[in-house]
Amino acid sequence: MCGIIGINGATEVCFDLLSGLKRLEYRGYDSAGIVTLYNGSFSRQRAQGKLVNLERKLKECPVPGNVGIGHTRWATHGAPTELNAHPHQGKHVALVHNGIIENHAELRANLKDVPFESETDSEVIVHLLDAYLDKGCDWGEAIHALLQDLKGAYALAILFKEWPDVLVGVCSGSPLVVGYGTEERLFLASDVVAFAPSCAEATYLEEGDWVELNKGQVTIHPKKALSTVTRPRVPISRDQECITKEGYQHFMLKEIMEQPTVLDRALKMYRTQDCQITKKYDWKQISSLSIIACGTSFYAGCVAKYWFEKIGRLPVSVDIASEFRYRDPTLLPGSCALFISQSGETADTIAALRFVKQKGIPCIGLVNVPESSIAREADSILQTQAGIEVGVASTKAFIAQLAILSALVVEIASLRGTIPHEEKASLQQDLMAISGLVTETLKLSIPLQTLAPRFGQSKTALYLGRGSLYPIALEGALKLKEISYIHAEGYAAGELKHGPIALIDDKMLIIVLAPYNDLFEKILSNVQEVLARKGQVVFFTDTHGMRALGQLESQITVYILPAVSPFLVPIVYTIPMQLLAYYVATFKGADIDQPRNLAKSVTVE
Ligand code: AGP
Repeated sequence: MCGIIGINGATEVCFDLLSGLKRLEYRGYDSAGIVTLYNGSFSRQRAQGKLVNLERKLKECPVPGNVGIGHTRWATHGAPTELNAHPHQGKHVALVHNGIIENHAELRANLKDVPFESETDSEVIVHLLDAYLDKGCDWGEAIHALLQDLKGAYALAILFKEWPDVLVGVCSGSPLVVGYGTEERLFLASDVVAFAPSCAEATYLEEGDWVELNKGQVTIHPKKALSTVTRPRVPISRDQECITKEGYQHFMLKEIMEQPTVLDRALKMYRTQDCQITKKYDWKQISSLSIIACGTSFYAGCVAKYWFEKIGRLPVSVDIASEFRYRDPTLLPGSCALFISQSGETADTIAALRFVKQKGIPCIGLVNVPESSIAREADSILQTQAGIEVGVASTKAFIAQLAILSALVVEIASLRGTIPHEEKASLQQDLMAISGLVTETLKLSIPLQTLAPRFGQSKTALYLGRGSLYPIALEGALKLKEISYIHAEGYAAGELKHGPIALIDDKMLIIVLAPYNDLFEKILSNVQEVLARKGQVVFFTDTHGMRALGQLESQITVYILPAVSPFLVPIVYTIPMQLLAYYVATFKGADIDQPRNLAKSVTVE
């Protein structure tokens, strides 16, 4: 939810901290700040809003020093103001925090006479540390005492005025990684992408670790202990460096357009990693599959449910992670769980994974970030290999999730004996053709640009789909909501008459996903219901469906997609949903790659 960075070295850090924050800005951009320690004093600059505001201040007045920390914020406690911006500093310490201190109110109440300057939960950590240092603790004792006090999720980077050579990190419930730069310069950050251009290797801290970076030396202590532990130094993959728009106006459009390549790579990579999953578990014996995720990743799980049950005859439940563990789910012996997450750092999904692991159920992760928490904590991992996804609205990672899931379903169905060899071969052939169909579908970007203005004036929209296109209707609505700020709802088309039809009038836009299949006639009835109430229908179908429209064609707006096997319809019909949301948001002049109130990785519950 926020991005933190720290640098400790032999040269000035101010603008290197700023560069690192720019690479972390996808994690939140409500405010930002930097503090350095120089000649026994903290020098701090903070700014409300995007990083450019902080950059302007630093160019006017840089902060001196070879050790410093920085923060880019997604507001949880306290409005996105400069006063609430991190770093927070006190008499002895300055720090930045990613996460939520759940017992901050209780801790704050115990610090009665201490003046607080902000509304944040994080500031309480500053005053707790100051209090321990005032009692005569050294920095290590103060940290050790602090860790007994805090409840919740926190990744911290901390400076101590009296120990100018020390930079401390704490990792509990939020990710933190150490980077090894040149000339003994050391880095600390929420995500390796922050310092990838300056480091060849990194160490991913584990749950509860706290670390001292001091004169080129890294000393790691395990959870709440004073002993030390060694964690591996691993190479940083070079694709962490290349984050450019490659000529596109927005990252989101670049990521939409690179989906054919992403699909090819995901399917090719799948074949090298599927044995981890399909061979590791006896899928004939697996009784059921629980899929848990959030947001767009949850919709990928919803599509997979249709596939696993129809093709693999495997009972599947799909849960929103933030609901899952609080409903005290019944997890059957012999079942398996699958956690889908682009970032691999979504707090709700991680918490659900830990909950299921405690029950002894095998946990599979499907992630786009190989070194993420879910990748490290799941029993088995499938990588989507979509490359870094910078746009907050997930596109290529979602398509890659669907590709991996579809390939997994075919393998598992074959292992369970629910499809004959010929059907497996046919489904795999469909998969091999999917990137070409997506390339063809991307050509809709031209006509969909002309549709965008019709959305510009609308306040709301309904997305309708049936079968495995119902989750794509949900995803299409989410895309529109999150980047154009137009309210939209995805609905199972058959549900229209059970309530939402009351919303329809001549201003309502209704997007209908309707390839020609066994449900086509039913969805046409829904279109008639909408037209009878003067709703504006935008209809996505194929040439067969177009022909079947008859005189309805003159009453609606129709877009033709390539004919695609029923199995892979969800992948192809996602493309116009992404493009439509993108062009409507562009028409509205919205902040497409960094929509208001959002962040790319939701690392708080
Ligand atoms: C998708 O466009 C949204 N940005 C959001 O719903 C996202 O899918 C959700 O936060 C889950 O993220 P994850 O896949 O990284 O776990």
